Amino acid sequence: MHIDILTLFPEVFAGPFSTSILKRAVDRKLVSIRMHNIRDYSHNKHATVDDYPYGGGAGMVLKPEPVFEAVESITSDISLKEEEGDVDSLPIIVLTPQGRLFGQEIAAELSTHRRMILVCGHYEGVDERVCEQLVTDQISIGDYVLSGGELAAMVIVDAVVRLLPGVLGSPASLLEDSHVGGLLEYPQYTRPAVYRGWSVPEVLLSGNHAQIAKWRREQGILRTLKRRPELLDEAELSSEERQLVERLSIASR
Ligand code: 6GU
Repeated sequence: MHIDILTLFPEVFAGPFSTSILKRAVDRKLVSIRMHNIRDYSHNKHATVDDYPYGGGAGMVLKPEPVFEAVESITSDISLKEEEGDVDSLPIIVLTPQGRLFGQEIAAELSTHRRMILVCGHYEGVDERVCEQLVTDQISIGDYVLSGGELAAMVIVDAVVRLLPGVLGSPASLLEDSHVGGLLEYPQYTRPAVYRGWSVPEVLLSGNHAQIAKWRREQGILRTLKRRPELLDEAELSSEERQLVERLSIASR
């Protein structure tokens, strides 16, 4: 996959993209990531990319021209052949607290594309014509306000890249991740079996894989019920598991 990121602060991406799993994915050419400075597309010698909001109000707004031209300079380089004729399916995403909420399903969908373009918003916002006429999607990473879209872009890149084939050592671990199947992940333990008097649950030492799988599944459901009960409405549960959730919810009322 190739990812283009439009930002006013390309330098902030250096750390996360040159560490750990992302670095390994880049080194192994499973993903390439290119930062583009929106300021390079400004129209004047002072390199201004923001201006006052029409209608008044606090803060500044990211101007449309540099963003349109930065995106167009990237898309004009993409040959039709490379995209097998469907340039239309190239996601061009603006990161904004007004976007739809990012989650594991969106990460999985994005990981199926050969390319994507992320546009990091800044200031009080981005000119609405960028959102309406240029991009294909608007994404937020949560209900809080960040000072720019850069951290959100890093979150999305990390969540998407670890899903690309070959990036994680064992693809099986993807199936056990939290939020896959709509549940939180079960508790994990490693050695020592007793630490400061706190023991690892017996069943995990039993070697009985069927029992272990059953325990983990129950723990995932219990933990989800306790911490994120709203997830259970959409989770993939068997009818017995649904009944278990019903009983536990009633018992805890
Ligand atoms: Cl994508 N951008 C900003 N500025 N704040 C956010 C966000 C994005 N997602 C949550 N808060």
